[in-house]
Amino acid sequence: MRPRLLTLCVLSILCLSLAATAAAPKKRRAWITIGDTAFQKVQALVPRMVAIGSRQTSVAGMPEKVHAVVVDESQIVAIAGAIHQHMGQCGGFMYHTSEAEARAALAVRRDAMPVPVYGIDQREVVEPILANMQDKNIEASILALSGFTNRYYSSPSGVEAANWLLSAWREIAAGREDISVALVTHMAYAQPSVTLTIAGTDLAAEKVVVGAHLDSILSFRMSDTARAPGADDDASGVASMTEALRALIASGYRPRRTIQVFAYAAEEVGLRGSQEIARQFKGAGQRVAGVLQLDMTNYKGAASDIYLITDYTNSEQNTFIAQLAAAYLPTLTVGYDRCGYGCSDHASWDAQGYPVSMPFEASMGRDNPAIHTSRDTYENSGGQAVHALKFARLAAAYMVELSGG
Ligand code: BES
Ligand code: ZN
Repeated sequence: MRPRLLTLCVLSILCLSLAATAAAPKKRRAWITIGDTAFQKVQALVPRMVAIGSRQTSVAGMPEKVHAVVVDESQIVAIAGAIHQHMGQCGGFMYHTSEAEARAALAVRRDAMPVPVYGIDQREVVEPILANMQDKNIEASILALSGFTNRYYSSPSGVEAANWLLSAWREIAAGREDISVALVTHMAYAQPSVTLTIAGTDLAAEKVVVGAHLDSILSFRMSDTARAPGADDDASGVASMTEALRALIASGYRPRRTIQVFAYAAEEVGLRGSQEIARQFKGAGQRVAGVLQLDMTNYKGAASDIYLITDYTNSEQNTFIAQLAAAYLPTLTVGYDRCGYGCSDHASWDAQGYPVSMPFEASMGRDNPAIHTSRDTYENSGGQAVHALKFARLAAAYMVELSGG
């Protein structure tokens, strides 16, 4: 081969390979931390997943192994889908934008957290609020939220849903100068979280936080236009929280501590919205009396009414929640179950050392089988919202008793 021809050959090969690189979808690395049960399950589907570190811990009296894993960003939905392939207790994962962040999450020391002195002494305030709460209002919110094509964290309808909720909460807050409503934007994706704050009176520096997740997902075939109604997961939690807020504000109640509620973006892709928010609270040195998470409140699949999640939550606050249920919802029964590593946004607060609880709709394996499918509709939660109303009332009692006394 003559030298010029050789140069030409080398050059064209170089050009071709460069073009191929440009045409290939961008590979972006991401890191997740994931419990061992879920990790085993996901490995069967995504075999090239490699753990870069692991840690043996003990959570609520049981041993738990957590892995830090490097993945490709495009695998996240498949990983979430793989976890949900089989029902039952397994847990989720937490998304991290760097290796350092993943390693820090692995190293988190879950020390005993400081909790306030709990008491139930606001009966005259709480009872009329609970009496004014209605399942039909919850139904309306669930139908509106599940009416968006999907509420995926990166899709246009996921943003529209956030704006709808912003307007709905603004309407509830109208005329009150001590209440503000805002979007919390996230740098890495389109969907914002939504937040409403009721300024406290004499203990305003301390907050009581209640949250639910705004986003929805469809396992496997997710796209901007895929139908993911997420009526139970988690329009129900947002709707329960909204009805608690509505009744609380309608009563003219003024909390002593500041109450802040969140509809978190991007839970289904690794608790991303709530992690950002909880980390920001910690960074600002924000004092928090307690956090409540409502994720799936409207499908009654098990014998008891409310199941308190015992792992990655605060056992003292859980006892307080059970006492609130006994005091204000005496006809209901309370059960206990575990949810696994990173199964919902409560884990984001727990990781930052804040006392958090999650009352859940059923025991594990008896929860709504339609979540993460196009069948997660209001109809498939029994076409009712009386189950979600129990959680709305519990949340209202929690907000008043923890911020009032
Ligand atoms: N609402 C679910 C959590 C859930 C589902 C708890 C079923 C109990 C029973 C939540 O939105 C979810 O899907 N979590 C994922 C983890 C997430 C990071 C993908 C999970 O638990 O697999
Ligand atoms: Zn989900």
